[in-house]
Amino acid sequence: MVTATAGAHPNLALVKYWGRRDADLNLPENGSISVNLSGATTTTRVTFDGALVQDAVTLNDAPASTPTLVRVASHLDRVRALAGIATRARVVSHNDFPADVGFASSASAFAALSLAATRAAGLDLDLHDLSVLARKGSGSACRSIPDGFVEWLPGWDDASSYARSLAPCDHWDLRVVTVALPCEPKLISSPAGHRAAPASPFYLARLKEMPHTLDVVRRALLERDFASFGLAVEREALSLHAVAMTSQSEGAPWLSGILYMEPETVRLIHAVQLWRREGLPVAFTLDAGPTVHLLCEGASLEEVLAAVTSATQGAAPQVIVSRPGRGAWLVDDSDGAEAPSDTSQAMWKCRAFGE
Ligand code: DP6
Repeated sequence: MVTATAGAHPNLALVKYWGRRDADLNLPENGSISVNLSGATTTTRVTFDGALVQDAVTLNDAPASTPTLVRVASHLDRVRALAGIATRARVVSHNDFPADVGFASSASAFAALSLAATRAAGLDLDLHDLSVLARKGSGSACRSIPDGFVEWLPGWDDASSYARSLAPCDHWDLRVVTVALPCEPKLISSPAGHRAAPASPFYLARLKEMPHTLDVVRRALLERDFASFGLAVEREALSLHAVAMTSQSEGAPWLSGILYMEPETVRLIHAVQLWRREGLPVAFTLDAGPTVHLLCEGASLEEVLAAVTSATQGAAPQVIVSRPGRGAWLVDDSDGAEAPSDTSQAMWKCRAFGE
């Protein structure tokens, strides 16, 4: 039996991946930029065991659902093909963050799985090859492999579509305040949203604007220009939602468009825009869900948290604060102890307001 354990953070897209050129390989239509979130970690142990007749997957101490098992086993097949082995594996994965909090948990899950499974299979992939592999599990997972601030180059084929670090974790004292608002499970998943996107009349307009968006966000990030950064990141998130709201989802003919925002999401967005008018340097972004991620510099964090507390009274959100986090890492579990989660660089708070 050969075992390896790895950790990875989810990442937050600042310029977002929405729409795919190739759904089998997860080749995106456009490049994207993200930051790893130190406030949340997935830790995954993989053991290739000759006694197993099929892969076994446990997530957060419970057996994985059939769709998850199939997706993980397909990813293990990619690793087995690379390593030239046929042995089945036991996968034990744990998230230190709640499932419904609005993090792209498939990103940290497939980044940690890729690193742990390749090491357990006797492979030592470089960052490029690991990012390419993780991308095939879930597109955004390729961005959880490198450190800090990351750009996913869309590429034109399997090998050219990968993520690389734009700047290290300590480049900018940026904080992400994730405000997860209680809501019903979403109707349309990200994979279904990617498939639906090209039906929107605004999809091509978004792609046409994308090189400019990427340039503006990349430059503002590298120059630590928060004002330009915040506005560009907000417009980019709203552009994704404009496409989603005007998309036609195949599996849901009764749905006129995909509306991921909840009333509380819109209320908080309005509040953020007013706070900025009043001089508080803060910006928001949204993924394919109602969770609002606020961006600010470290110096404004306490003021932003106080503003969130007063704006969300009664809504009981969960709030998690992250710094820019490192890329996927190996965990030394040679003593067989439960794999620790990464706390070295994480400042992490999780508060259920009103408790
Ligand atoms: C809105 O990476 O979850 O979070 O490739 O189908 O696994 P799959 O999709 P996924 O899509 C992420 C969509 C997004 C934007 C982003 O993270 O860039």
